[in-house]
Amino acid sequence: MAKNSKLKWNRKHLLGIRDLSAGEIEFILDTAEGFAEISTRSIKKAPPLRGKVVVNMFFEDSTRTRLSFTLAASRLSADIIDFTKKASSVSTGETLIDTARNIEALGIDIVVIRHNAGGAPKLLSRNINACVINAGDGFNEHPTQALLDVYTIRQAKGSLKGLKIGIVGDIAHSRVARSDIWAMTKLGAEVTLIGPPTLMPSCVDRLPVNVCYKLDDVIERLDVINMLRIQFERMGKQQFPSIREYSHFFGLNVERMKRAKGDIIVMHPGPINRGLEIESEVADGKNSVILKQVSNGLAVRMAVLFLVNQAAMREAKSRKK
Ligand code: CP
Repeated sequence: MAKNSKLKWNRKHLLGIRDLSAGEIEFILDTAEGFAEISTRSIKKAPPLRGKVVVNMFFEDSTRTRLSFTLAASRLSADIIDFTKKASSVSTGETLIDTARNIEALGIDIVVIRHNAGGAPKLLSRNINACVINAGDGFNEHPTQALLDVYTIRQAKGSLKGLKIGIVGDIAHSRVARSDIWAMTKLGAEVTLIGPPTLMPSCVDRLPVNVCYKLDDVIERLDVINMLRIQFERMGKQQFPSIREYSHFFGLNVERMKRAKGDIIVMHPGPINRGLEIESEVADGKNSVILKQVSNGLAVRMAVLFLVNQAAMREAKSRKK
């Protein structure tokens, strides 16, 4: 399935990108390329997860991640359970681990979890036997978003080596930015974080990135620009003077795009605040790969589900010996 056949994927959990090697990331991307073909068939199904049960545990809202994990599991013939916080005993105070152990007692194989607390997927992985996939935890990581981002860049540009990538906006509250930084730099790109000082994370000096406080200073040099959503819901109070001012200095609009390279690709993880961080003409324009990112998320999540399950089966086999 993957081009780099010498490497074996040995992780039964995908908790983040930070701990992965470049080889492991490329192995997932190569595996995803193989799975992309399934979605072009008239019968869009393959059997690798037949008889396996995947549970989606989303403690925060999601459209793209939740739907694409559900579809990915379905394409691989798994059975899927959707867990919702509101309709579960979590609303009566049951803990995350007790909830997961009870679900596990029903015989699930893979937990896909999104949680507002950073570290929740790791905690879960230490307390249950099932595979755990992080679908976004607090400000920490969103590994499958980063994987689909680098997959999309590789598809558009051939390789990430030497590319100049700008990540613009609310870096402080963005788990996407953290996972992207690790994935992009491990694959050889030069990453610049761009935004107002109040939206930079306090640990920025320890990250392998450049920092720039003026989009106009760097836009001409970028090969890829990734616009982030302002996450008002995670801010105690607004961390910049006004939306209008933010949009003026950091919004991606048609005027700014005139100064960018002709083949720059425009990315956004979604959901988009149209007219705030990005103008509709740019979000829907010829350089935009925003919907391609969503489509690619399906193949990437199929690959991740497949690989963690393979690792779990190998682990179970070696335990029996
Ligand atoms: N990019 C992303 O995580 O989108 P959702 O919140 O809709 O899943």
